[in-house]
Amino acid sequence: MAFIDGKAIAAEIKARLAVQMAALPAGQGVGLATLLIGDDYGAAQYRGQIERLATSMGFGYTDVRLPPAATLAEIHAALDRLAADPAVHGILPLRPFPKGVGDEAVIDRLPPLKDIDGFHPDNLGRLLLDAPRLIPSTARACLVALDATHIDLQGKEVVVVGRSATVGKPVALLCLARHATVTLLHSRTLDLAFHTRRADVVIVAIGRPRFLTAEMIRDGAVVIDVGINWEESEGVDGQKQGRLVGDADTEAVAARAAWITPVPGGIGAITNACLLENTLTALALQGGDRESSVRARLGR
Ligand SMILES: NC(=O)c1ccc[n+]([C@@H]2O[C@H](COP(=O)([O-])OP(=O)(O)OC[C@H]3O[C@@H](n4cnc5c(N)ncnc54)[C@H](OP(=O)(O)O)[C@@H]3O)[C@@H](O)[C@H]2O)c1
Repeated sequence: MAFIDGKAIAAEIKARLAVQMAALPAGQGVGLATLLIGDDYGAAQYRGQIERLATSMGFGYTDVRLPPAATLAEIHAALDRLAADPAVHGILPLRPFPKGVGDEAVIDRLPPLKDIDGFHPDNLGRLLLDAPRLIPSTARACLVALDATHIDLQGKEVVVVGRSATVGKPVALLCLARHATVTLLHSRTLDLAFHTRRADVVIVAIGRPRFLTAEMIRDGAVVIDVGINWEESEGVDGQKQGRLVGDADTEAVAARAAWITPVPGGIGAITNACLLENTLTALALQGGDRESSVRARLGR
């Protein structure tokens, strides 16, 4: 068993990005913006992470915040300003949005070439058509983690648990593009363990702490754990304490798996680096280089 070291992989991606940034024409900056609507704790934490990472890498950073009661017209106006800003090459609206603000109403307004999380229908549609442009960063991070194990996905049984448009479906498509045989599971799947037990690779993205147990995988499987769950417990002093756990029961699963991503320090770290990578891709796309960089990243 070995852990896939997400922090080390993220550091490699960042080193590569630094080289690419140094090669940009003189005076050419690259910038990203986040849009935080409301006061969701997780979204606010993620915003801080992105700001620290982007600025530490020399990216321009624009912080736009709207109150929880912002109207759709105000949200669209903020997005339109970022769309028109030549210093902003990537826009990341932070989810979850406040109640009453539909994902589509926000995402549809993004200019597809600045959609660095790859959620605009144009970008998801292109992924479906096998002609990707900006790829959802978490799904891309899963493939980067798999590549670190040197597994050849061609012909392998890949089982993805979770079918969200943000993680499960795009990662399934990316594995399919690598010629894996892909099975997508969800909350209505009957006998989930029947599928996971025969998988060469299990990717779990459901948001249920420690859901995937050792009995649910076969010896030597590769496990990619996307889940980020906050688990609270009571300390010896009776005080509440918490920690991040994944969707897999990491220690027990690790004893059977060939490889597993830890939580924290796994997919999350790689995802953030992929988001910056997407911002550089967005810059290239806005300059007219529409296909080549993405195809290169898919390894095809
Ligand atoms: N590391 C990162 O960078 C990153 C990025 C994004 C998300 N995440 C984490 O990944 C997890 C999933 O995120 P998400 O946005 O994809 O969540 P989501 O939109 O809530 O989707 C969850 C998916 O899991 C399925 N599911 C829920 N309970 C299940 C069960 N008991 N058995 C089988 N399937 C079940 C749901 O099935 P139905 O469709 O049938 O309801 C749904 O397809 C969360 O913990 C999230 O925090 C991490």
